[in-house]
Amino acid sequence: MPIEFVPLHPLFAAEARGVDLAALRDPGALAEIRAAMHRFAVLVFRDQRLDDRSQVEFAGRLDGQLHSKTGISALAANRFGNEALTDVSNVDENGQVLPPDDRRRHYSLANRLWHTDASFVDPPGRYSMLSARVVPPVGADTEFADMRAAWDALDARTRRQVEGLVCLHSQVHSRAKAGFDELSDAERVAFRPVRHRLVRTHPSTGRKSLFLSSHAGEIEGMSLPEARMLLLDLTEFATQPRFVYSHAWRLHDLLMWDNQATMHRGRPFDPAEPRDIRQTRLRCAEGTIEQHA
Ligand SMILES: [Fe+2]
Repeated sequence: MPIEFVPLHPLFAAEARGVDLAALRDPGALAEIRAAMHRFAVLVFRDQRLDDRSQVEFAGRLDGQLHSKTGISALAANRFGNEALTDVSNVDENGQVLPPDDRRRHYSLANRLWHTDASFVDPPGRYSMLSARVVPPVGADTEFADMRAAWDALDARTRRQVEGLVCLHSQVHSRAKAGFDELSDAERVAFRPVRHRLVRTHPSTGRKSLFLSSHAGEIEGMSLPEARMLLLDLTEFATQPRFVYSHAWRLHDLLMWDNQATMHRGRPFDPAEPRDIRQTRLRCAEGTIEQHA
């Protein structure tokens, strides 16, 4: 039976119905999911009883290029003993909420800035998949902005201004914006900036989009204040409510999105409530500089 994709927003995002990702092996169904990702860029799968192993295996079946040991996992080993997973939770090894002064907690707060996953490495992140194992009762929504629609809506003068520009992305930028500057010298070296085009073309659909992220802090050939203000203006434009879908989490959701077409951010929730969300991520085949060369 074909998978049903029910749109959740006029521009993008859909709920996929009638599929059990842990058991999914059929090449035709996997192809349907890939095609739906090209169209919708964000897919919601409800009631997916995934454990760590089945989550990683599903990501591998969709595409073999797993992306791991970036983000917080560059700071320390994760609590799963499985580096294919990235931890985007606020709990420790025993499921207890991290104390307010915990470094991992401070580091993760920057996820509430609009960003694109793993834009601070090259090649950058492609698909991200989050599996909800524990969700807070209120808040903690994840918002997505359609960066293809933002590009399409941009005026011709601004398009000419930004096309061809190259940004420098680093976690040092995004963490500084969020007030987190407790980075060691070794971490600053590990987080050295990478170059990405500000306007990218999707390798599968050919659609252009703005490649923005909280990690982008400089634009080559532009003064720092000029670059920062341009990035701020573009981010404000691209995250207007008409381009945004907000996801309200339920237990056992698997949420998957294309970082080549969207930006996202986490929303606040009661910090005393546990949230256990585990990420698998695929990487782009090549960087945006290489791709446009
Ligand atoms: Fe993220």
